[in-house]
Amino acid sequence: MQKIAVANHKGGVGKTTTAVCLAAALIERERSVLLVDLDEQGSASEWLANQRERAGAELAAAILHGGSLADLVQETPCGVDLVATNELFHSFHVEAQSEPGAEQLLREAIRALPPRWDYLIFDCPPSLNIATVSALVASDYLLVPVETKFLSLRPLARIFQLFASVQRRLNPDLRLAGVLASKVRGGTRHCAEVVDRLRQRFGEAVFKTVIRDSIRVGEAPGHGKGVTLYDPGGLGATDFRALAGEFEERLAEEVPAKARLKKENPRRVAHG
Ligand SMILES: Nc1ncnc2c1ncn2[C@@H]1O[C@H](COP(=O)(O)OP(=O)(O)OP(=O)(O)O)[C@@H](O)[C@H]1O
Ligand SMILES: [Mg+2]
Repeated sequence: MQKIAVANHKGGVGKTTTAVCLAAALIERERSVLLVDLDEQGSASEWLANQRERAGAELAAAILHGGSLADLVQETPCGVDLVATNELFHSFHVEAQSEPGAEQLLREAIRALPPRWDYLIFDCPPSLNIATVSALVASDYLLVPVETKFLSLRPLARIFQLFASVQRRLNPDLRLAGVLASKVRGGTRHCAEVVDRLRQRFGEAVFKTVIRDSIRVGEAPGHGKGVTLYDPGGLGATDFRALAGEFEERLAEEVPAKARLKKENPRRVAHG
């Protein structure tokens, strides 16, 4: 099971949209996907399933007190399995403060899951808080959606600082799946320039696929489906299908290389 944290502390950049629509597009490719909602706003949970009143408290308890995450998995109509959350997940943040090594607990909870899924995707909150750090510690890959606006560029430094610190101190196997330009308004010079700057700064780490701004993508959350199901022939579906393909290609290249490097030279992998 490959674990992917979708994270960027800037709000409203397309994290949840990416997490849900990528998951749904992977389902269309006949992969099995578990989405774990780590944002107490519960946006992915609300998008995909009926709200369970105690979802956030149950998730916090499972992580903090060694409960079973598997018991919290619910099937959703669009085929993505979900560990839901809501505002009660705030208790995780409060209790974690007095728990030494709390950022390791999610990884332990994930390790106890049955090997039932090809991918596990974490939808992270718009903050570099303990939930985001825990997701990076528990993941194999970080995927960073970036809204294509100039003011989105500078804040990226902080998520990449966190990525480097987690890689150095807590999770040497963490890799960058990619930087994803999201909400791209076709034909605007501003968006094209921002995408260019992303490519100058992050090179090949930027996905070739960009996610265009589309009304249907914005509407999909109200219909309980990823955009590939909600509007199968539209722009959003085309973009997320392309992303799922590119994402799987990248992982297919990266995974054997990672295993080989690890075998030959564990230090080189550990310090990236
Ligand atoms: N490609 C797109 N086209 C149109 N609307 C989009 C697109 N991507 C995201 N949106 C809309 O932008 C808003 C923010 O997106 P989303 O919730 O995915 O961001 P987020 O980074 O998860 O936000 P938060 O930081 O609050 O968790 C939502 O209303 C969503 O529907
Ligand atoms: Mg979100």
